[in-house]
Amino acid sequence: MSLNLHVGQAGFQAFIAKEAGTCVEKGPGWALCEGRAEDLAFSHLVLHDPVELKAEPGRGLGGSLAELFRKLSRGVRYDGLWPLAFESAAEEGLSKRAKSLEAAFRGEASQLARIMRLARSGRPGPGPCSGFFVFLAGFDRAFACGQAWCGGQRRMADDPHAPSRSYLKVEEAYAVLGEAPAPGQTVADLGAAPGGWSYSAARRGAAVTAVDNGPLKDGASGNPLITHLREDAFKFAPESQVDWLFCDLLEDPARTLGLLERWAGSGWCGRFVANLKFGRNDPLPLLRKVLARDGVLAGRCALLRARHLYHDREEFTVVGRLA
Ligand SMILES: C[S@@+](CC[C@H](N)C(=O)[O-])C[C@H]1O[C@@H](n2cnc3c(N)ncnc32)[C@H](O)[C@@H]1O
Repeated sequence: MSLNLHVGQAGFQAFIAKEAGTCVEKGPGWALCEGRAEDLAFSHLVLHDPVELKAEPGRGLGGSLAELFRKLSRGVRYDGLWPLAFESAAEEGLSKRAKSLEAAFRGEASQLARIMRLARSGRPGPGPCSGFFVFLAGFDRAFACGQAWCGGQRRMADDPHAPSRSYLKVEEAYAVLGEAPAPGQTVADLGAAPGGWSYSAARRGAAVTAVDNGPLKDGASGNPLITHLREDAFKFAPESQVDWLFCDLLEDPARTLGLLERWAGSGWCGRFVANLKFGRNDPLPLLRKVLARDGVLAGRCALLRARHLYHDREEFTVVGRLA
């Protein structure tokens, strides 16, 4: 039986497990599940068939990890940079322990100097990946493997001129989509206030129509690339196709999904980033509806991804590129 270790956001392990399949064990921000599910929303990183390691008397975890890595790397050609990810459960002190464990591992694996010089710490970009992936489930308990899948979520750097923390979500969404607004492109931002997403696009040189009754602030207020319309987002239609639709409405997510389907179905945008706020409800039925193979979005998109972003809370973000 194939086991996968799914790593996501702290507090969301119930949804991580439910989306991934049959759960064997779970802890803060992780779930060990049967089956090799990929392209999930709540899993940020999936370790395929990980080996479980425990610290033993006289032998630290760093040594056991180095031994496993030596075994896994036999016969593998390392021609370029490869990812070395040390992650941990959301428990106090564990992320610090993961850092010191990585240092111990690097020390123990130093005989493989040429290979280790090519190791890049941190999560890779979205998709399947080869490297060395370690997850610390406790102080003396780790899971590790050479093959993983990455959803593309990651912590983004803040900007002092950004009007809201929401800014970080759209920045992270570009990384998941693999594309960001560019100079000369057009953006319709529905539910724009106070303007984090509009500011993010304008910063990149795109022309933004920001639709919201609320005021724009800080870097979005008076920005020459941002036109503010105090209108209802559900009544707004673009004069011609825009390159990007942004949609971050504080509304019933089923209603927001209907709006997104209308834009995609009518071909009003080339790409989209939309945030659906599920609040205290089970997000799985909504997620399945968004990604349904016979749904409007799957029918219209060349690329469609739903992710519970690092910066998301009781919400998930859908990104898409129309065919
Ligand atoms: C979470 S905030 C958006 C934050 C924004 N993305 C940012 O980066 O600053 C949600 C916004 O949706 C707006 N909103 C909710 N319903 C709306 C509607 N029907 N039409 C326009 N805006 C709406 C609210 O006024 C609120 O400003």
